[in-house]
Amino acid sequence: MTSGQQRLVVVSNRLPAALKQENGEWTVKAGAGGLVTALAPVLKNRGGVWIGWSGSSDPTLDVDSLLSDFSSKAGYDLYTVPLTKEEVDGYYFGFSNEIIWPLFHDLQTRCRFHPKYWRMYLDVNFKFAEIVARRTTPDDYIWIQDYHLMHQAFFLKSMGVKRQIGFFLHIPFPPPDIFMKLPWRWKVIQALTEFDLVGFQTMQDRRNFLECLRRLMPEAKSEGRGPVITVKVGNREFRLGAFPISIDFNQFSEMAQREEVGQMSFRIKEALRHRKIILGVDRLDYTKGIPERIRSIQTLLRRYPDLKGRVNFVQIAVPSREEVDEYKELRTEIEQLVGRVNGEFSFPGWVPVHYHYKSFPHEELVAYYSAADIALVTPLRDGMNLVAKEYCAANASGDGVLVLSEFAGAAAQMQKYAYLVNPYDMEGIAKALHRAFHWDKEERSRHMTALRDQVRTNNIYWWVDSFLRAGIAKSLDDFPEVETLKFERG
Ligand code: UDP
Ligand code: G6P
Repeated sequence: MTSGQQRLVVVSNRLPAALKQENGEWTVKAGAGGLVTALAPVLKNRGGVWIGWSGSSDPTLDVDSLLSDFSSKAGYDLYTVPLTKEEVDGYYFGFSNEIIWPLFHDLQTRCRFHPKYWRMYLDVNFKFAEIVARRTTPDDYIWIQDYHLMHQAFFLKSMGVKRQIGFFLHIPFPPPDIFMKLPWRWKVIQALTEFDLVGFQTMQDRRNFLECLRRLMPEAKSEGRGPVITVKVGNREFRLGAFPISIDFNQFSEMAQREEVGQMSFRIKEALRHRKIILGVDRLDYTKGIPERIRSIQTLLRRYPDLKGRVNFVQIAVPSREEVDEYKELRTEIEQLVGRVNGEFSFPGWVPVHYHYKSFPHEELVAYYSAADIALVTPLRDGMNLVAKEYCAANASGDGVLVLSEFAGAAAQMQKYAYLVNPYDMEGIAKALHRAFHWDKEERSRHMTALRDQVRTNNIYWWVDSFLRAGIAKSLDDFPEVETLKFERG
């Protein structure tokens, strides 16, 4: 069963192309983060519409003409939602990034529960819903992405606009003891029940949601046991599912095998004098555990002095949410730590930590992936983490090792063949890295081959198909329990 006849309308806060001001000039850049990486190939492949904010709040800017070139090359239509500075501050920086983002990543002490953020969140969700209503028809499938837009179904219904509408949460859903701290918990849960389908990254996220729902709406009843279940609340019925997001495996795998990418990768290794490379790649975000990771490299070099001069840690940190104080402070903390570790261990001809604060084009990123002996992916909490999957897809030689946080959504699928670590346990990470260096070629290849097979099978097209099938399938029998095992263990 497919929804091939229906037009797909993706709605997210950020469009795949973001407008950024550099030296007074507006330029079009690819949007940062996993949501854009995952969905861009889907719309390119199927066509459709993408509705979102352009990244600018300058009312004098001719956004449509700046984006028209991107849109015609992309092969799908882009519609922008104009937002004022006040709206961006309250809805995006405020409610989305200072309340939901930290709370849903179990970091509630970082939340600022300002009522004015909540009001602006509702106003902007209403504004998005008006544009969605205007730009779509009842025959379209509307697919809302992420925590910025949890009230879309609620507002469309309140306007009397009937649409088939699903929602996918890219970040984790927290357990009740954390979610219940949200002052607007009931309204958020209720808004989510207005979608026809609500999708999560893992079965654990789905379980957390269901527990919160049952606490806040004790009349809620669920039915079914597979990856997709039905929930009834009063006279409302909707579906819940776990759909682990993925990447375009072939795109990364083929890119890694291109001659120019191979040459780039060789140049990286050469510049690092063919030492072992440990690689970290993240948006600069406090959920990613970058300071803890640098400290674990410090522990590694203290505990295992034989590695001095034989290993390099390369950290790529993509600038993100730079206007938020917490992100500015994190940047300073990381830069100081890098300085401290390099100050402690460097000697002429060797600097242990190479830190890049910028975004790399995909080819260069893939060259880093293929050059790295170990990918060190240690978020404190993460919805999925696509870097873990991209590293495996780009590891055509099958020779790399993935060291992965047990708190990344990706761990549910990859735990058997990745080296799982607790991101807070610096000694444990150091030990894991030391051991991973001693895996022989056969062991590395056995693990990496299994990881690559996993990502190849459960790729981004599989993810879209599973979600859309759940969005339109009539019977729950289409989702037998055994399907769960295909993508998630434990
Ligand atoms: N990325 C990128 N350029 C870079 C570094 C990272 O485009 O220089 C992309 C990377 O390919 C990945 C995304 O950023 O697709 C990060 O996604 P992930 O799911 O790991 O984390 P998120 O940023 O969504 O929290
Ligand atoms: C995560 C979120 C996305 C978000 C991305 C980049 O992947 O799940 O919704 O777009 O981070 O963050 P930004 O705030 O720059 O959009």
